[in-house]
Amino acid sequence: MKVLVIGSGGREHAIVDALSRSEKVSKIIAAPGNAGMAELAVCESIKDTDVDRLLSYAKNERVDLTVVGPEASLALGIVDKFEEAGMLIFGPSKAAAQIESSKEFAKDLMQKYNIPTAAYAVFSDYEEALMYVAKQGAPIVLKYDGLAAGKGVVVAQDMVEATDALKDMLLDDKYGHGKVVVEECMVGPEFSFMCFVSGEAVYPMVVAQDHKRAYDGDKGPNTGGMGAYTELPFITEEDKAYALNEIMIPMAKAMVKEGCPFKGVLYGGLMKTAQGIKVIEFNARFGDPETEVVLPRLTSDIAELFSAIAKGETPIIEWDNRASLGVVLASLGYPGDYTKGATIENLEAVDAKVYHMGTTIHEGKYVTNGGRVLFITALADTLQEAQAKVSAEIKKIECNNLFHRNDIGWQAIDFIESEK
Ligand code: AMP
Ligand code: GLY
Repeated sequence: MKVLVIGSGGREHAIVDALSRSEKVSKIIAAPGNAGMAELAVCESIKDTDVDRLLSYAKNERVDLTVVGPEASLALGIVDKFEEAGMLIFGPSKAAAQIESSKEFAKDLMQKYNIPTAAYAVFSDYEEALMYVAKQGAPIVLKYDGLAAGKGVVVAQDMVEATDALKDMLLDDKYGHGKVVVEECMVGPEFSFMCFVSGEAVYPMVVAQDHKRAYDGDKGPNTGGMGAYTELPFITEEDKAYALNEIMIPMAKAMVKEGCPFKGVLYGGLMKTAQGIKVIEFNARFGDPETEVVLPRLTSDIAELFSAIAKGETPIIEWDNRASLGVVLASLGYPGDYTKGATIENLEAVDAKVYHMGTTIHEGKYVTNGGRVLFITALADTLQEAQAKVSAEIKKIECNNLFHRNDIGWQAIDFIESEK
Protein backbone atom coordinates (compact mmCIF):
# COMPACT_ATOMS: atom_id res chain seq x y z
CA MET A 1 0.00 0.00 0.00
CA LYS A 2 0.99 3.59 -0.66
CA VAL A 3 -0.20 5.69 2.26
CA LEU A 4 -0.50 9.48 2.42
CA VAL A 5 -0.47 11.09 5.89
CA ILE A 6 -1.70 14.67 6.11
CA GLY A 7 -0.19 16.96 8.74
CA SER A 8 3.14 18.16 10.10
CA GLY A 9 3.30 17.56 13.87
CA GLY A 10 4.25 14.99 16.46
CA ARG A 11 0.89 13.27 16.06
CA GLU A 12 1.50 12.69 12.37
CA HIS A 13 5.08 11.56 13.07
CA ALA A 14 3.65 8.93 15.46
CA ILE A 15 1.16 7.84 12.76
CA VAL A 16 3.97 7.61 10.17
CA ASP A 17 6.10 5.66 12.67
CA ALA A 18 3.25 3.19 13.29
CA LEU A 19 2.68 2.82 9.52
CA SER A 20 6.37 2.13 9.02
CA ARG A 21 5.96 -0.99 11.19
CA SER A 22 3.29 -2.39 8.85
CA GLU A 23 4.25 -5.10 6.40
CA LYS A 24 1.44 -3.94 4.14
CA VAL A 25 2.96 -0.51 3.56
CA SER A 26 5.44 -0.04 0.72
CA LYS A 27 5.60 3.76 0.68
CA ILE A 28 4.62 6.55 3.06
CA ILE A 29 4.13 10.10 1.90
CA ALA A 30 3.64 12.93 4.39
CA ALA A 31 2.12 16.27 3.36
CA PRO A 32 3.67 18.53 4.39
CA GLY A 33 5.47 16.31 6.95
CA ASN A 34 8.49 17.49 8.93
CA ALA A 35 12.20 16.84 9.30
CA GLY A 36 11.65 13.83 11.57
CA MET A 37 9.08 12.17 9.34
CA ALA A 38 11.48 12.58 6.41
CA GLU A 39 13.46 9.62 7.78
CA LEU A 40 10.47 7.31 7.21
CA ALA A 41 8.39 9.07 4.57
CA VAL A 42 8.65 11.16 1.44
CA CYS A 43 7.62 14.69 2.43
CA GLU A 44 5.61 16.66 -0.14
CA SER A 45 5.33 20.35 0.58
CA ILE A 46 1.56 20.63 0.19
CA LYS A 47 -0.30 22.42 2.98
CA ASP A 48 -2.78 20.39 5.04
CA THR A 49 -5.50 22.91 4.09
CA ASP A 50 -4.85 22.77 0.33
CA VAL A 51 -7.44 20.06 -0.21
CA ASP A 52 -7.58 20.34 -4.00
CA ARG A 53 -3.82 19.92 -4.40
CA LEU A 54 -3.79 17.05 -1.90
CA LEU A 55 -6.49 15.29 -3.88
CA SER A 56 -4.83 15.73 -7.25
CA TYR A 57 -1.53 14.58 -5.75
CA ALA A 58 -3.16 11.48 -4.23
CA LYS A 59 -4.86 10.63 -7.53
CA ASN A 60 -1.72 11.12 -9.62
CA GLU A 61 0.40 9.09 -7.22
CA ARG A 62 -2.27 6.37 -6.97
CA VAL A 63 -2.27 6.56 -3.20
CA ASP A 64 -4.17 3.57 -1.69
CA LEU A 65 -5.05 5.15 1.64
CA THR A 66 -5.00 8.68 3.05
CA VAL A 67 -4.90 9.38 6.80
CA VAL A 68 -5.86 12.84 8.05
CA GLY A 69 -4.20 14.25 11.18
CA PRO A 70 -5.36 17.86 11.70
CA GLU A 71 -8.86 19.14 12.39
CA ALA A 72 -8.43 22.00 9.91
CA SER A 73 -8.33 19.60 6.94
CA LEU A 74 -11.41 17.76 8.26
CA ALA A 75 -13.38 20.96 8.81
CA LEU A 76 -12.66 21.86 5.16
CA GLY A 77 -14.32 18.65 4.01
CA ILE A 78 -11.21 16.80 2.81
CA VAL A 79 -12.87 13.41 3.47
CA ASP A 80 -15.97 14.27 1.43
CA LYS A 81 -13.83 15.42 -1.51
CA PHE A 82 -11.57 12.34 -1.48
CA GLU A 83 -14.56 9.99 -1.21
CA GLU A 84 -16.38 11.73 -4.06
CA ALA A 85 -13.28 11.00 -6.12
CA GLY A 86 -13.38 7.33 -5.09
CA MET A 87 -10.31 7.51 -2.82
CA LEU A 88 -10.01 5.56 0.45
CA ILE A 89 -9.52 8.00 3.33
CA PHE A 90 -9.44 7.66 7.14
CA GLY A 91 -11.30 10.48 8.86
CA PRO A 92 -14.80 11.90 9.35
CA SER A 93 -16.84 13.87 6.81
CA LYS A 94 -17.22 17.63 7.21
CA ALA A 95 -20.68 17.11 8.71
CA ALA A 96 -19.38 14.60 11.27
CA ALA A 97 -16.33 16.75 12.09
CA GLN A 98 -18.77 19.34 13.46
CA ILE A 99 -18.63 17.34 16.66
CA GLU A 100 -15.36 19.23 17.14
CA SER A 101 -15.70 22.32 14.96
CA SER A 102 -19.03 23.41 16.48
CA LYS A 103 -19.34 23.29 20.26
CA GLU A 104 -23.06 24.09 19.98
CA PHE A 105 -23.63 21.14 17.64
CA ALA A 106 -21.80 18.85 20.07
CA LYS A 107 -23.68 20.15 23.10
CA ASP A 108 -27.08 19.91 21.40
CA LEU A 109 -26.40 16.31 20.43
CA MET A 110 -25.29 15.39 23.96
CA GLN A 111 -28.44 16.92 25.41
CA LYS A 112 -30.74 15.29 22.86
CA TYR A 113 -29.23 11.82 23.47
CA ASN A 114 -28.72 12.10 27.22
CA ILE A 115 -24.94 11.94 27.10
CA PRO A 116 -23.57 13.26 30.41
CA THR A 117 -21.91 16.67 30.10
CA ALA A 118 -21.76 20.01 31.95
CA ALA A 119 -24.98 22.08 32.03
CA TYR A 120 -24.78 24.87 29.45
CA ALA A 121 -26.46 27.68 27.56
CA VAL A 122 -25.54 29.35 24.25
CA PHE A 123 -25.42 33.11 23.60
CA SER A 124 -24.59 35.49 20.80
CA ASP A 125 -25.68 38.61 22.68
CA TYR A 126 -23.23 40.03 25.22
CA GLU A 127 -25.83 41.47 27.64
CA GLU A 128 -27.83 38.23 27.74
CA ALA A 129 -24.69 36.18 28.28
CA LEU A 130 -23.55 38.50 31.08
CA MET A 131 -26.93 38.24 32.84
CA TYR A 132 -26.83 34.45 32.69
CA VAL A 133 -23.24 34.31 33.95
CA ALA A 134 -24.04 36.70 36.83
CA LYS A 135 -26.94 34.44 37.82
CA GLN A 136 -24.85 31.24 37.67
CA GLY A 137 -21.84 32.78 39.40
CA ALA A 138 -18.13 31.90 39.16
CA PRO A 139 -16.23 29.68 38.65
CA ILE A 140 -17.75 29.28 35.21
CA VAL A 141 -16.52 28.12 31.81
CA LEU A 142 -16.84 30.19 28.62
CA LYS A 143 -16.20 28.65 25.22
CA TYR A 144 -16.02 30.53 21.98
CA ASP A 145 -17.94 28.51 19.40
CA GLY A 146 -15.82 27.82 16.37
CA LEU A 147 -12.36 26.47 15.67
CA ALA A 148 -10.08 28.49 17.92
CA ALA A 149 -7.05 26.15 17.99
CA GLY A 150 -7.61 25.35 21.66
CA LYS A 151 -7.52 28.97 22.72
CA GLY A 152 -11.25 29.53 22.81
CA VAL A 153 -11.86 28.25 26.36
CA VAL A 154 -11.73 30.35 29.51
CA VAL A 155 -12.24 28.82 32.95
CA ALA A 156 -13.17 32.06 34.77
CA GLN A 157 -12.49 31.97 38.52
CA ASP A 158 -14.42 35.19 39.27
CA MET A 159 -16.88 37.62 37.66
CA VAL A 160 -14.12 40.00 36.51
CA GLU A 161 -12.44 37.25 34.52
CA ALA A 162 -15.80 36.07 33.19
CA THR A 163 -16.83 39.56 32.08
CA ASP A 164 -13.48 40.18 30.36
CA ALA A 165 -13.73 36.88 28.50
CA LEU A 166 -17.29 37.58 27.36
CA LYS A 167 -16.18 40.99 26.06
CA ASP A 168 -13.33 39.38 24.11
CA MET A 169 -15.61 36.75 22.68
CA LEU A 170 -18.78 38.72 21.92
CA LEU A 171 -17.92 42.42 21.71
CA ASP A 172 -14.35 42.76 20.46
CA ASP A 173 -14.45 40.02 17.82
CA LYS A 174 -11.05 38.91 19.10
CA TYR A 175 -11.77 35.37 17.93
CA GLY A 176 -14.05 36.30 15.04
CA HIS A 177 -17.80 36.81 15.10
CA GLY A 178 -19.61 34.03 16.85
CA LYS A 179 -21.40 32.53 19.81
CA VAL A 180 -20.39 31.59 23.31
CA VAL A 181 -21.26 28.38 25.12
CA VAL A 182 -21.45 29.08 28.86
CA GLU A 183 -20.86 25.94 30.93
CA GLU A 184 -21.03 24.73 34.48
CA CYS A 185 -17.48 24.34 35.84
CA MET A 186 -16.78 20.66 36.55
CA VAL A 187 -14.08 19.35 38.88
CA GLY A 188 -12.07 16.11 38.70
CA PRO A 189 -9.26 14.39 36.82
CA GLU A 190 -9.41 14.65 33.04
CA PHE A 191 -8.64 11.88 30.61
CA SER A 192 -8.61 11.34 26.88
CA PHE A 193 -10.60 8.41 25.58
CA MET A 194 -9.95 7.94 21.88
CA CYS A 195 -11.95 5.37 19.94
CA PHE A 196 -11.82 4.11 16.37
CA VAL A 197 -15.36 4.58 15.12
CA SER A 198 -17.09 3.39 11.98
CA GLY A 199 -20.80 4.21 12.07
CA GLU A 200 -22.21 2.48 15.13
CA ALA A 201 -19.11 0.35 15.72
CA VAL A 202 -16.80 1.74 18.42
CA TYR A 203 -13.34 0.29 19.25
CA PRO A 204 -11.60 1.90 22.24
CA MET A 205 -7.92 2.75 22.46
CA VAL A 206 -5.95 2.76 25.69
CA VAL A 207 -6.83 5.71 27.93
CA ALA A 208 -4.38 8.63 28.04
CA GLN A 209 -3.91 11.91 29.87
CA ASP A 210 -2.56 15.18 28.47
CA HIS A 211 -0.94 18.00 30.53
CA LYS A 212 -2.07 21.37 29.21
CA ARG A 213 -0.18 23.75 31.49
CA ALA A 214 3.33 24.87 30.60
CA TYR A 215 5.12 24.26 33.90
CA ASP A 216 5.51 21.65 36.65
CA GLY A 217 2.67 21.36 39.14
CA ASP A 218 0.20 22.24 36.36
CA LYS A 219 1.18 25.90 36.69
CA GLY A 220 1.55 28.54 34.02
CA PRO A 221 -0.28 29.23 30.78
CA ASN A 222 -2.27 26.71 28.76
CA THR A 223 -0.42 25.09 25.88
CA GLY A 224 -1.17 22.56 23.14
CA GLY A 225 -0.04 19.88 25.64
CA MET A 226 3.33 19.34 27.37
CA GLY A 227 3.29 15.58 27.86
CA ALA A 228 1.04 12.53 28.11
CA TYR A 229 0.94 8.95 29.35
CA THR A 230 -1.09 5.71 29.42
CA GLU A 231 -2.69 4.07 31.47
CA LEU A 232 -4.44 5.91 34.26
CA PRO A 233 -4.68 3.91 37.51
CA PHE A 234 -7.47 6.18 38.82
CA ILE A 235 -9.65 5.31 35.82
CA THR A 236 -11.02 1.85 36.62
CA GLU A 237 -12.29 -0.84 34.25
CA GLU A 238 -15.76 0.15 35.39
CA ASP A 239 -15.06 3.78 34.46
CA LYS A 240 -13.88 2.71 31.01
CA ALA A 241 -16.96 0.55 30.48
CA TYR A 242 -19.16 3.48 31.52
CA ALA A 243 -17.33 5.87 29.19
CA LEU A 244 -17.68 3.39 26.33
CA ASN A 245 -21.30 2.37 26.91
CA GLU A 246 -22.80 5.62 28.13
CA ILE A 247 -20.76 8.15 26.18
CA MET A 248 -18.82 6.94 23.13
CA ILE A 249 -21.27 4.32 21.76
CA PRO A 250 -24.35 6.53 22.31
CA MET A 251 -22.55 9.39 20.53
CA ALA A 252 -21.62 7.18 17.56
CA LYS A 253 -25.24 5.98 17.37
CA ALA A 254 -26.55 9.53 17.68
CA MET A 255 -24.42 10.65 14.76
CA VAL A 256 -25.77 7.83 12.60
CA LYS A 257 -29.33 8.82 13.55
CA GLU A 258 -28.62 12.48 12.77
CA GLY A 259 -27.46 11.56 9.27
CA CYS A 260 -23.77 12.30 9.85
CA PRO A 261 -22.21 8.94 10.72
CA PHE A 262 -18.72 9.19 12.18
CA LYS A 263 -15.72 7.43 10.68
CA GLY A 264 -12.22 7.85 12.07
CA VAL A 265 -11.04 8.69 15.57
CA LEU A 266 -13.66 10.05 17.94
CA TYR A 267 -11.84 11.64 20.86
CA GLY A 268 -13.72 12.01 24.14
CA GLY A 269 -12.19 14.63 26.43
CA LEU A 270 -13.72 13.32 29.66
CA MET A 271 -13.69 14.25 33.33
CA LYS A 272 -14.24 11.94 36.30
CA THR A 273 -16.37 14.17 38.54
CA ALA A 274 -17.99 13.35 41.88
CA GLN A 275 -21.25 13.00 39.90
CA GLY A 276 -19.77 10.54 37.43
CA ILE A 277 -17.86 10.72 34.16
CA LYS A 278 -18.86 13.63 31.95
CA VAL A 279 -17.85 15.01 28.58
CA ILE A 280 -15.74 18.17 28.38
CA GLU A 281 -15.47 18.04 24.62
CA PHE A 282 -15.33 15.77 21.62
CA ASN A 283 -12.65 15.97 18.95
CA ALA A 284 -12.91 14.46 15.49
CA ARG A 285 -9.30 13.28 15.24
CA PHE A 286 -6.33 11.82 17.08
CA GLY A 287 -5.23 13.93 20.07
CA ASP A 288 -1.85 15.58 20.12
CA PRO A 289 0.23 14.60 22.16
CA GLU A 290 -1.90 11.59 23.25
CA THR A 291 -1.25 9.86 19.92
CA GLU A 292 2.49 9.95 20.63
CA VAL A 293 1.98 7.74 23.73
CA VAL A 294 -0.95 5.61 22.49
CA LEU A 295 0.26 4.46 19.06
CA PRO A 296 3.66 3.18 20.31
CA ARG A 297 1.60 0.60 22.25
CA LEU A 298 -0.35 -0.61 19.21
CA THR A 299 1.02 -4.00 18.19
CA SER A 300 -1.47 -4.85 15.43
CA ASP A 301 -1.11 -3.55 11.87
CA ILE A 302 -2.23 0.09 11.71
CA ALA A 303 -2.53 0.22 7.90
CA GLU A 304 -5.01 -2.66 8.03
CA LEU A 305 -6.77 -1.02 10.95
CA PHE A 306 -7.15 2.31 9.15
CA SER A 307 -8.38 0.55 5.99
CA ALA A 308 -10.87 -1.56 7.91
CA ILE A 309 -12.35 1.47 9.67
CA ALA A 310 -12.47 3.46 6.43
CA LYS A 311 -14.28 0.57 4.68
CA GLY A 312 -16.63 -0.23 7.58
CA GLU A 313 -15.04 -3.64 8.25
CA THR A 314 -14.08 -5.11 11.64
CA PRO A 315 -10.50 -4.21 12.57
CA ILE A 316 -7.93 -6.17 14.60
CA ILE A 317 -6.64 -4.03 17.48
CA GLU A 318 -3.99 -5.29 19.92
CA TRP A 319 -1.94 -3.47 22.55
CA ASP A 320 1.40 -3.81 24.29
CA ASN A 321 0.69 -4.18 28.03
CA ARG A 322 3.40 -1.79 29.15
CA ALA A 323 2.85 1.78 30.31
CA SER A 324 3.92 4.65 28.06
CA LEU A 325 4.94 8.17 28.97
CA GLY A 326 6.14 11.05 26.85
CA VAL A 327 7.41 14.57 27.37
CA VAL A 328 7.41 17.63 25.10
CA LEU A 329 10.58 19.66 24.61
CA ALA A 330 9.38 23.18 23.87
CA SER A 331 11.15 26.38 22.83
CA LEU A 332 11.94 28.73 25.74
CA GLY A 333 9.10 31.26 25.91
CA TYR A 334 6.43 28.90 24.53
CA PRO A 335 3.39 29.27 24.53
CA GLY A 336 4.31 32.98 24.25
CA ASP A 337 6.99 34.38 21.93
CA TYR A 338 9.99 32.23 21.19
CA THR A 339 12.85 32.16 18.71
CA LYS A 340 13.55 29.43 16.15
CA GLY A 341 16.73 28.04 14.66
CA ALA A 342 18.53 26.66 17.74
CA THR A 343 20.72 23.67 16.84
CA ILE A 344 19.69 20.30 18.30
CA GLU A 345 22.56 17.85 18.82
CA ASN A 346 22.87 14.22 19.84
CA LEU A 347 19.28 13.16 19.00
CA GLU A 348 20.64 9.91 17.56
CA ALA A 349 21.86 8.92 21.04
CA VAL A 350 18.31 8.86 22.45
CA ASP A 351 17.16 5.32 23.22
CA ALA A 352 13.41 6.03 23.12
CA LYS A 353 10.84 7.13 20.56
CA VAL A 354 11.66 10.60 19.23
CA TYR A 355 8.78 12.37 17.52
CA HIS A 356 9.40 15.69 15.83
CA MET A 357 6.78 18.35 16.47
CA GLY A 358 8.54 21.43 15.12
CA THR A 359 12.02 20.97 13.68
CA THR A 360 13.70 21.60 10.37
CA ILE A 361 17.13 20.92 8.91
CA HIS A 362 19.65 23.73 8.56
CA GLU A 363 23.15 23.09 7.22
CA GLY A 364 22.72 19.38 7.78
CA LYS A 365 21.60 19.68 11.41
CA TYR A 366 18.22 19.60 13.12
CA VAL A 367 17.17 23.02 14.39
CA THR A 368 14.13 24.15 16.37
CA ASN A 369 11.30 25.41 14.17
CA GLY A 370 8.23 25.77 16.38
CA GLY A 371 6.86 26.21 19.88
CA ARG A 372 6.68 22.51 20.62
CA VAL A 373 9.79 20.96 19.11
CA LEU A 374 10.23 17.30 20.10
CA PHE A 375 8.33 14.57 21.93
CA ILE A 376 10.18 11.74 23.66
CA THR A 377 8.20 8.57 24.52
CA ALA A 378 9.33 5.56 26.56
CA LEU A 379 7.54 2.28 27.24
CA ALA A 380 8.21 0.43 30.51
CA ASP A 381 6.59 -2.00 32.93
CA THR A 382 5.55 0.83 35.26
CA LEU A 383 4.81 4.50 34.78
CA GLN A 384 7.58 5.42 37.24
CA GLU A 385 10.11 3.53 35.12
CA ALA A 386 8.82 5.12 31.94
CA GLN A 387 9.09 8.57 33.56
CA ALA A 388 12.66 7.90 34.72
CA LYS A 389 13.61 6.55 31.30
CA VAL A 390 12.28 9.60 29.42
CA SER A 391 13.99 11.89 31.87
CA ALA A 392 17.35 10.15 31.41
CA GLU A 393 17.05 10.12 27.62
CA ILE A 394 16.12 13.83 27.45
CA LYS A 395 19.39 14.67 29.23
CA LYS A 396 21.29 13.37 26.20
CA ILE A 397 19.73 15.99 23.89
CA GLU A 398 21.86 19.10 23.52
CA CYS A 399 20.06 22.35 22.69
CA ASN A 400 20.25 25.70 24.45
CA ASN A 401 16.72 26.85 23.73
CA LEU A 402 14.45 24.08 25.03
CA PHE A 403 12.55 23.45 28.27
CA HIS A 404 10.30 20.63 29.45
CA ARG A 405 8.18 19.50 32.37
CA ASN A 406 9.63 17.01 34.85
CA ASP A 407 6.37 15.83 36.39
CA ILE A 408 4.43 14.31 33.48
CA GLY A 409 2.28 11.51 34.92
CA TRP A 410 2.19 13.01 38.43
CA GLN A 411 -1.53 12.35 39.00
CA ALA A 412 -1.05 8.65 38.28
CA ILE A 413 2.20 8.31 40.20
CA ASP A 414 0.75 10.12 43.25
CA PHE A 415 -2.26 7.81 43.05
CA ILE A 416 -0.08 4.69 42.88
CA GLU A 417 2.01 5.92 45.86
CA SER A 418 -1.14 6.66 47.88
CA GLU A 419 -2.48 3.14 47.25
CA LYS A 420 0.68 1.53 48.71
P1 AMP B 1 -10.75 22.51 25.55
O1 AMP B 1 -9.99 23.54 24.77
O2 AMP B 1 -12.19 22.41 25.20
O3 AMP B 1 -10.00 21.21 25.56
O4 AMP B 1 -10.75 22.99 27.05
C1 AMP B 1 -9.55 23.34 27.66
C2 AMP B 1 -9.59 22.94 29.09
O5 AMP B 1 -10.57 23.71 29.79
C3 AMP B 1 -9.99 21.51 29.34
O6 AMP B 1 -8.93 20.63 29.16
C4 AMP B 1 -10.46 21.59 30.78
O7 AMP B 1 -9.33 21.57 31.65
C5 AMP B 1 -11.08 22.95 30.86
N1 AMP B 1 -12.55 22.86 30.77
C6 AMP B 1 -13.31 22.90 29.67
N2 AMP B 1 -14.62 22.77 29.96
C7 AMP B 1 -14.69 22.65 31.30
C8 AMP B 1 -15.79 22.51 32.24
N3 AMP B 1 -17.06 22.51 31.85
N4 AMP B 1 -15.48 22.41 33.55
C9 AMP B 1 -14.19 22.45 33.97
N5 AMP B 1 -13.14 22.59 33.15
C10 AMP B 1 -13.37 22.70 31.83
N1 GLY C 1 -4.44 16.93 23.45
C1 GLY C 1 -5.65 17.60 23.21
C2 GLY C 1 -6.05 17.68 21.81
O1 GLY C 1 -5.48 17.06 20.94
O2 GLY C 1 -6.99 18.40 21.52
